[in-house]
Amino acid sequence: MNQSSTWIDPAGQLNSNKAALPEAFEYRGISHLALVCSDMARTVDFYSNLLDMPLVKTIELPAGMGQHFFFDIGNNDTLAFFWFPDSAPPAPGVAAPKRRPDQGNATSAIGSMNHIAFDVSPDRIDEFHARLIARGIPCSVVVNHDDSEWTVSEDLHPGVFVRSIYFQDPDGILLEFAAWTRPLTPEDVSHVPATADRRP
Ligand SMILES: [Fe+2]
Repeated sequence: MNQSSTWIDPAGQLNSNKAALPEAFEYRGISHLALVCSDMARTVDFYSNLLDMPLVKTIELPAGMGQHFFFDIGNNDTLAFFWFPDSAPPAPGVAAPKRRPDQGNATSAIGSMNHIAFDVSPDRIDEFHARLIARGIPCSVVVNHDDSEWTVSEDLHPGVFVRSIYFQDPDGILLEFAAWTRPLTPEDVSHVPATADRRP
């Protein structure tokens, strides 16, 4: 997906060009996303023991500033956590959504990390849903996202583009297992981006 470009033309229409741009940046996925936890031992237990993400790098920060740990999430990507002795307390609704999207409003503040979705196989997402429940992790049903008005469907039909399970970590960080179910096409980019003047 990194060979495309997208722009708005003078008529306000959204355009996208799938042609390769030799001078473009080339991305190879997420090196790491760094989050902040309150209890690194509890975080290690959750991600390595309950979510099967091996702990692959640990760093003790100098001068008592804290710790920085990395978990392997596949594809050479990692999920990182900081533990700081002087972190501000959690701020549900600001730093992260107050609850899962299937439980209500999932907004968070500008600049926040709203949620992280781990890429999983569409062939295994139902199995993974059962495993989350078996391991005692509260989670949503497997949500079928499509292009209907409410963007979800009870049925798994050809228009569904991703299937998702939402759950939270011990600090309330919103997590998702996401399984793409079909290739995305130029028609999947069809909305003009909103601007700040639409905010109340
Ligand atoms: Fe998502």
